[in-house]
Amino acid sequence: MFVDRVVSGMRPTGSLHLGHYHGVLKNWINLQDQYDCLFFAADWHALTTHYETPGDIQDNVLQMMIDWLACGINPSKAVLFVQSRVPEHAELHLLLSMITPLGWLERMPTYKDQQENIRDKDLSTYGFLGYPLLQAADVLIYRANLVPVGDDQVPHIEFTREIARRFNHLYGREQGFEERAREAIRKMGNKKGKLYEQLRNRYQEQGDTDALEAARALLTEQQNLSIGDRERLFGYLEGGGKMILSEPHSLLTSESRMPGLDGRKMSKSYGNTIALREDASSVTDKIRRMPTDPARVHRNDPGSPEICPVFFLHQVYTQETVHNWVRKGCTEASIGCLDCKQPLIDAVLKEQEPIRDRAQAYLDDPLLVRGIISDGCDKARSLAIETIRDVREVMGLNYGAT
Ligand code: TRP
Ligand code: SF4
Repeated sequence: MFVDRVVSGMRPTGSLHLGHYHGVLKNWINLQDQYDCLFFAADWHALTTHYETPGDIQDNVLQMMIDWLACGINPSKAVLFVQSRVPEHAELHLLLSMITPLGWLERMPTYKDQQENIRDKDLSTYGFLGYPLLQAADVLIYRANLVPVGDDQVPHIEFTREIARRFNHLYGREQGFEERAREAIRKMGNKKGKLYEQLRNRYQEQGDTDALEAARALLTEQQNLSIGDRERLFGYLEGGGKMILSEPHSLLTSESRMPGLDGRKMSKSYGNTIALREDASSVTDKIRRMPTDPARVHRNDPGSPEICPVFFLHQVYTQETVHNWVRKGCTEASIGCLDCKQPLIDAVLKEQEPIRDRAQAYLDDPLLVRGIISDGCDKARSLAIETIRDVREVMGLNYGAT
């Protein structure tokens, strides 16, 4: 059975915080049980904005991987790797750059937004403009079907699809395509192969879309086809050439808006975070000092939980019964803000405890993490090589070596 492939990356920008856990990692942990997942540290992407301070990248990657593992990303289910250790991403990025219209990149909303928002760095660089193309290469090199991202990244995935389409349109007609397709049909076996051909004829001669669907399902279930042959047969079905790069879809992360200490979205750039492995006394201190409804100047002034950052965090961490207790206590001024914060402190510490413990095991044995990363890089690389071989070939670069 063909399982959808999921690829996602995260920039190693320092130690992760609770927003990463609730917004991204919990989702990845679910995905690793259902799909064939690859997760990587996007260290080249980090350089597009931090090119002046590369010093911390390596340690950031290591700490980030420890955070992933500590949260429950399981290296026997998902492949964990580092982008720059799979140089095929860079080769694909370069080759795709040949066919990427400048206007497509200049029009990306993230490009304009970030140039306006990040004033302390010069982002008029070639690398920064190419950020979405590098991201496209990250996804296309694995022929991924699904990419879990936050809503700000959806335009990047749409762009990735456009690039894949343009590429297939330009290069999809490989030499000897018909013969290769027929050979692939033979590999399906007599019965299935015949069925495929009948369905293909029905679709091509009568425009029967049910037949198209049935043929697609047949290919999806077929176990003994290589990825290359499967894509060839998908292409052959519709009369086009081989689909060399497949078009991915974004998988929107639902709960991506984790509130920070000040009520705004938790983000390093706002300085309103709690680190995943922050020590208990510091967490307690940060929550105790959180701003509350300013109307509650004195203990007996009533307040409104609806506008209080503490209450926002209660939504993530505590039960309905606690929410009711807060609502009543706050509006009637029968509890103080420190009372209100205590169950929140307890819940955050409880969540962090197993994460901190698991991280400690990896911190005590750095070779373990290095081994996991290095295995992941090998696996990712062998997949990337399959794609880059096809890409080189159709772009006229097959010199007989790889
Ligand atoms: N741009 C993504 C972010 O900022 C990180 C990223 C890089 C990525 N390459 C990717 C995400 C490929 C998904 C797939 O969050
Ligand atoms: Fe906020 Fe709780 Fe204080 Fe009300 S009692 S203002 S919800 S911290």
